[in-house]
Amino acid sequence: MDFRDKYQIVQMIGRGLCSTAFLVTNKYTDQICVAKRTREPKFSRLIEREAGIIELMHESQSVVELIETIQDRKVGFSRHNKAIILGYSGQKCLAMFLKKSDMEPDTHIEPRFSQRELSFYAAQLISGISHVHAHGYIHGDLKPSNIIRGDHVLRRQNYLRIIDFSGCRHLHEVRECHGTLGYQASEQKNGITTFETDYYGIGVTLNSLAEGRMRSRMSGPVGITKRSDISDKFKEGLSLSMSDNHEDRIKGLHLF
Ligand SMILES: Nc1ncnc2c1ncn2[C@@H]1O[C@H](COP(=O)(O)OP(=O)(O)O)[C@@H](O)[C@H]1O
Ligand SMILES: [Mg+2]
Repeated sequence: MDFRDKYQIVQMIGRGLCSTAFLVTNKYTDQICVAKRTREPKFSRLIEREAGIIELMHESQSVVELIETIQDRKVGFSRHNKAIILGYSGQKCLAMFLKKSDMEPDTHIEPRFSQRELSFYAAQLISGISHVHAHGYIHGDLKPSNIIRGDHVLRRQNYLRIIDFSGCRHLHEVRECHGTLGYQASEQKNGITTFETDYYGIGVTLNSLAEGRMRSRMSGPVGITKRSDISDKFKEGLSLSMSDNHEDRIKGLHLF
C-alpha cells in the first residue's frame, strides 16, 4: 500500500533539510500520527536509515514510537522511497514552549519550567539516551525541537520522547555529525561525536528550558541560568555537563 492510500495529511508541523513532518490521519482507523517524508530523492536512504534506528529503540518509553514505514511514491522518486509513520498523542516539541531566540529582549517569561520539572526531564532524557547508547548509537542533535512532550489530556504532560535520529551515528560508523549551531558541543565543530556529546546536548537543552529561550546560530557562549529558584547543585550540573572535559559531563548528569 502507498502512503496516499492510507494516510490523509492534516497539516505540516515541521520542515528540515532532508524531510518534512506532517500530522496525518489513518484513513482506515482515524488514528492521528506523524509522517516524516523525504524532500528530495537523494534523501530516501537517510529516512529509511532513521526508521531502522527508531525501530531498534522500541522498548524505550523515552524514544518516539515507530508505527510503520510505508512506500511513498512521489514524482521523480524511486519506487523504493519510504515515509516513516510515528506515534502522536497531542505532543508538542519543547521548542514550542520557548522564545524563538535569545536575541529577543530579555522579558520575564511565564510559565517557566520549575526545577522539579527540569529534574524530571533530565531523568527521562538520561534514560532515553542510555537506550540509544546501549544500541551503540549517538543521537548527536539533542535540542528542544528534537524532544516532544506529552499531552496533559492524556495525563502524560511531563513525559518526554526523543525524536529525530537523522543526525545519528553508530559508534563503528565513520560519519561527521555537526549537530545544530547553538546546541553544538565543542567536538562537533570538527564533526566528531561521542556518547558524551549527547550529555552536552542534555545540559544545553535543560539550560535553554530553564532560560525559556531557544539558542540560535547567532548566540554567544552558553551562560548558565542565573535563576534564583534553581539550586546551585543543579546549576553545577548544567555547568559540568556542558564542559569540554568529557568526564566532567558525566559528573554533571549526577547532579540533576
Ligand atoms: N512524533 C511526533 N510528535 C509530535 N511532533 C513531531 C513528531 N515528530 C516530529 N515532530 C515535529 O516535527 C518537527 C520535525 O521533525 P524532525 O524529526 O525533528 O525532523 P527534521 O529532521 O526535519 O528536523 C519536530 O521538530 C517536531 O516539532
Ligand atoms: Mg529535528
